[in-house]
Amino acid sequence: MLHNKRILLIMGGGVAAYKSLDLIRRLRERGMQVRAILTRAGAEFVTPLAVASLSGEKCYSDLFSLTDEAEMGHIRLSREADLVLVAPATADLMAKMANGLANDLASTALLATDKQVMLAPAMNVQMWNNPATRRNVETLQSDGVLMVGPDDGLMACGETGAGRLSSVEDILASVDAFFTSENALRPLAGKKALVTAGPTHEPIDPVRYLANRSSGKQGYAIAASLAALGADVTLVSGPTALSTPASVKRIDVERATEMAQACDNALPVDIAVCVAAVADWRVESEQSGKIKKTSDGVPPAFTFVENPDILAHLSGLATDRPALVIGFAAETDNVLKRAKDKRQRKGCDWIIANDVSPSSGIMGGDETSVTLITGDGLEQWPQSSKTEVAGNLALRIVDYFSSLPS
Ligand code: CTP
Repeated sequence: MLHNKRILLIMGGGVAAYKSLDLIRRLRERGMQVRAILTRAGAEFVTPLAVASLSGEKCYSDLFSLTDEAEMGHIRLSREADLVLVAPATADLMAKMANGLANDLASTALLATDKQVMLAPAMNVQMWNNPATRRNVETLQSDGVLMVGPDDGLMACGETGAGRLSSVEDILASVDAFFTSENALRPLAGKKALVTAGPTHEPIDPVRYLANRSSGKQGYAIAASLAALGADVTLVSGPTALSTPASVKRIDVERATEMAQACDNALPVDIAVCVAAVADWRVESEQSGKIKKTSDGVPPAFTFVENPDILAHLSGLATDRPALVIGFAAETDNVLKRAKDKRQRKGCDWIIANDVSPSSGIMGGDETSVTLITGDGLEQWPQSSKTEVAGNLALRIVDYFSSLPS
């Protein structure tokens, strides 16, 4: 279960840093990937070379190294992890975190990360008991930071009490417990999802475009539900007035061809949900200047060409085909028959049929009435909000993956 989990290990300064070398080795033995940041103080106790040799990755140590920044920006470093583990967490690092300071690579990564942070504190007993540290621990815990230890016992400085770094076994057990509970609460953790949403705008000239009435609400709600269940979601969105759901990576596009390219760039993914109302056609030759009315009153004539069909393309990929490709069929009449045909024609696994006839009042609204069509048959879902449809779909996706042989 821990296999391939990525740990960003931040090593503060302290004698206990030597134990973190063993921690790296033990995490890797369990199949985890470890990338380490060594603070300047940490580098007084262990060498970057030892850290790099044990982790099998470059050891990052200085925010202001331009080479490091060019290779791997500090934001990316802080996000490309499933858990940020700080061991040893010094009083100084904890004070910086509690106050949002960011004046070196470690504190900047801690401020910039969107992942769970776990601290294994190690410091002298007086430092641990100092009211300033007590306040910082309380702040960090109410911010949702997890703590392992510290243990009680004899310290390197000769004093006895709370402040010893927890044993490597205890830190490993906490990491394990974190991923176990995360798997229960976030059943799509480790899965990548691509969602398309919104309309596309197909330019005619610099001031005019072809568009449709899609609001993007359903696609955004699906992206949000998948992310809430732990999926790593890329939302490729046409122009909408909506804000990006939490923990979702959003790529804004205008035209269908840009949307198709952005989807290809997001591959490989496990799940693709095509909700966008992609314009079927674009004008063959977009005018570089604004088209003017003519004195004879004859309106301009346009030739259209067909846009790429993103759903059919993703469904038919020979390599990197997502394990589950889901489309939508917005129909005004003969809804189920057309949706079933569309599923066959486009080669997707599931299709969600919805009635968008003007009498349904659904297009652009918050309520919708859908039928899920899979290879096994039809499921009519009661009329509900787009958010509920998104939640139900995300749970069906969880069921699908949990029914697969592991
Ligand atoms: N779709 C797509 N790329 C396109 C057109 C549609 O990915 N160029 C996807 C939509 O996101 C949706 C599904 O295909 O998931 C069905 O879209 P729809 O517009 O209903 O299908 P069309 O192929 O355009 O068929 P129709 O002739 O009914 O408009």
